[in-house]
Order: sequence, then C-alpha cells, then structure tokens
Amino acid sequence: AVTRTPLIAGNWKMNLDHQQAIAFVQKLDWALKDAGHEAGSVEVALFPPFTGLRSVQTLISADKIAFAHGAQDVSAHDSGPYTGEVSGAFLKKLDCAYVIIGHSERRQHHAETDEIVGAKVSAALRHGLAPVICVGETAEDLEKHGASAVPAAQLRTALAGVSADAEIVVAYEPVWAIGSGQAATPEQAQEVCRALRGVIAGTLGEDAAARTRILYGGSVAAANIAGFMREPDVDGALVGGASLKVDEFAAIIRYQK
Ligand code: G3P
Repeated sequence: AVTRTPLIAGNWKMNLDHQQAIAFVQKLDWALKDAGHEAGSVEVALFPPFTGLRSVQTLISADKIAFAHGAQDVSAHDSGPYTGEVSGAFLKKLDCAYVIIGHSERRQHHAETDEIVGAKVSAALRHGLAPVICVGETAEDLEKHGASAVPAAQLRTALAGVSADAEIVVAYEPVWAIGSGQAATPEQAQEVCRALRGVIAGTLGEDAAARTRILYGGSVAAANIAGFMREPDVDGALVGGASLKVDEFAAIIRYQK
C-alpha cells in the first residue's frame, strides 16, 4: 500500500506582513522544537501573502527550518503584459513547492471559474509547483445536490489538462465551513474526500489516486484535527484562522500527541 505523508498547511490569507511572517515562522519553529516535535512525521506548509514569500524563503533556508512554503495564487500566464499578476516561474525561484489554486474566496470575489482554475493548475505544473486544488460546495449546493457533486465536478474540470504522473494536492473545503467555526464532521469530510479520490482515479488513474494527498479545510482547530486525521481518505488539513495562532497551529501539527 502507498503511504501518504500527512500534510498540514497554513493558509494565512491576507494576514501577516513580511515582518510578522518572519516572527511567526521563528515562533512556530521554536514551539515545535520545544515540544520535541519530530520534523518529517508530518509535512508542514505555509502560505503567506506574496509579500512574505521572500522573507519566509530566506528564513527557512538560513535556519534550516523544515517547513515548505507556497503562494495563495498564481497567474495562468507565464510572463508578459499582465499587470498585477505573479508567474509560476517567480514562485519557483522563491523555492515555493506548492501553490493554492481555486480557493473559494478567489472563486467568489475574483470570479475564478473552473476553467481559470484548470489553466492555473497547468501553469503551476509547467513551473514545477504542486497545485493545491481547492474545491467545495456552498450551503445551497449542499442542500440541492448533496455534498460530493459540486466538488467532484470542480475537480474533474481542474484535472482536465493534468498528466497522470503530476504531483497535485486536493483540498476539500466546504464553503459553509470556512471561517464559520462550524467544521464538517470527520464522516462528512471522509465521504467527500473518498469521492474526490474516485475522481482522481477516473481521470488520472489508480496510481495517482493512491498517491495524491487530499486535505480537509474549514474551521480546523486543535480540538478537531485528530478526528479528521483518523479518516482513511483525509491526508491532512488546510487551515485558515487557526494557522495564524502559533500555539494552536503547533498543536494541530502535533495532532498525534
Ligand atoms: O484555506 C483554508 C480556509 O479556507 C479555512 O479557513 O479559517 O475556516 O480554517 P478556516
């Protein structure tokens, strides 16, 4: 059987300027080391705003801190007259391993369609970044279509241009659970994550489905992380609000203790 390394990812959204980012990374590293956390048992990835990426890169490489980092968005284009956009090549040069694509806040406030998400996924892969593809249903979708239909359709479109050997991560984030304090239950998360693994199997094949990490996101906290991580198809978490609190995020990373 394939073992998938659990991934705990912190999406800072539009929080922490570059100086606050440095302080946060140092404190998180100390908190984990103080607690005797064994780096490597769980992969930790931080997603600062663009302005924090250079500082986080420098700190992580200088202090040999075992965190990965990534951006919260990427341009679908490679270079040229796209004012305000940031290319995958620039992110790769900052040692980003990952980039979040299609977060519901971007779908909602920046009119990102499944097609745009697909184009950004291709752009990320062209530049050697693993896309963290976000999918999820609204409360209305849930009522009308059940939990899995909308996220499954979003993922199918996002994977249209992806090759079977690409490294991708999928994040299931029910929109109604984001920032609401009302997380899905572990059983609900498992049901949808299992369906999403089925979509990967159907589009990229069984090997890709067995290898790909699927995260749950939406009001993840120190108090509920262990329940999600016990589910067979949940391989980690994409954490928003709780990733901005050092002790809480450290406790989420140490969910096994
Ligand atoms: O991308 C993570 C996010 O949308 C979840 O946010 O604050 O509910 O953990 P939060």
